[in-house]
Amino acid sequence: MPSSRIPVAVLGATGSVGQRFISLLEHHPWFKVVALVASDRSVGQRYSDACRWVLNDPMPEYARDMVVVPAATDTVQAKIVFSALHNEIAKDLEPQFARAGAMVCSNASSYRRGEDVPLLLPEVNADHVQLVKQQRINRGWSGCIATNPNCTSTGLTVALKALDDAFRVRKVFAVSLQALSGAGYPGVSSLDIIDNVIPNIGGEEEKVEWEPLKMLGKYMDSKIQLAEIGISAHTNRVAVMDGHTVCASVEFAQPVSPEAAIQAMTSYEAPASARDLPSSPRPVIQVRVEADRPQPRLDRFTGKGMTTVVGRVRQDPLYHLKFVVLSHNTIRGAAGGSIYNAELLVNEGLL
Ligand SMILES: NC(=O)c1ccc[n+]([C@@H]2O[C@H](COP(=O)([O-])OP(=O)(O)OC[C@H]3O[C@@H](n4cnc5c(N)ncnc54)[C@H](OP(=O)(O)O)[C@@H]3O)[C@@H](O)[C@H]2O)c1
Repeated sequence: MPSSRIPVAVLGATGSVGQRFISLLEHHPWFKVVALVASDRSVGQRYSDACRWVLNDPMPEYARDMVVVPAATDTVQAKIVFSALHNEIAKDLEPQFARAGAMVCSNASSYRRGEDVPLLLPEVNADHVQLVKQQRINRGWSGCIATNPNCTSTGLTVALKALDDAFRVRKVFAVSLQALSGAGYPGVSSLDIIDNVIPNIGGEEEKVEWEPLKMLGKYMDSKIQLAEIGISAHTNRVAVMDGHTVCASVEFAQPVSPEAAIQAMTSYEAPASARDLPSSPRPVIQVRVEADRPQPRLDRFTGKGMTTVVGRVRQDPLYHLKFVVLSHNTIRGAAGGSIYNAELLVNEGLL
């Protein structure tokens, strides 16, 4: 635990994920928000004027009167920079902050595939954080970029990790039902989504088919060896506010009973270094036994939105098992995940 609160900035503070950061950082024991960054549209305005607040919890008092600043490394004096920027903007801005010495914890996909960039879910692959050392050598900067995965890969990967450790996962067929907040604000037009399902989210299927392989991969010789698992994904946007659901069928090295899978997921614990951080999910996975759970409206705030909720674990006639996974997309899948990553990096002495 740091001796005093570490100054942090939020890039993209007015957006869907940015607002979650503002809310989750309100009472954070280690971090203190010192700068809010957004586009030229918002710069110079009070946060409460620039931001159309869409969360149920009220806008935290600390943020209301802060003046939104531009994304310049000389005006943003923060050791940790949380990025909730879109990819094209993140691609340009995040290295500038890393070069200036900041630890950038990013939600964008721009650097997720970088060989020296950790793609982190601390409860899954806390050891991958060590890639930061290689990144600093390769890129000659004193800061770093650490990323979290796309919000649909998140819950699925946590569940697969528990199962892979116990039984070796070979193949996954996954269908997502993704919440509207995942498309940012204002996101999908109401006329497009009410009474509807949109069976395509640009670039999402490729992310869900690749990102879990990196996170479930092995850290060896300062590199990640991708997991040898085949994943096929369908991704859909549905009229849910928050909480991504994924229906998955999984093939293992050998048949696995639902009872054994439930036991493996229920007893799964984060690696020791990621177990007792302020944002550690408690529990990591909750398995529901009711026939009609998990449901986004009822279950998305399990473990303050950081727990992965699994249900309907049963036999699959084609693969071995099938089940449903729910994860809060802007908490565990975005802002909460980035904050958890930052806590891990700090705890490992990498700031
Ligand atoms: N939503 C999710 O569930 C989720 C989950 C995981 C990852 N992500 C990723 O997180 C990132 C943010 O997504 P979002 O849904 O929060 O998007 P969003 O609601 O559209 O918000 C975008 C934010 O970026 C700011 N911005 C735009 N151009 C900028 C610039 N040139 N300089 C500085 N700030 C700029 C906007 O400020 P203004 O208000 O001033 O325009 C706004 O604050 C994306 O990369 C997304 O893929 C999202």
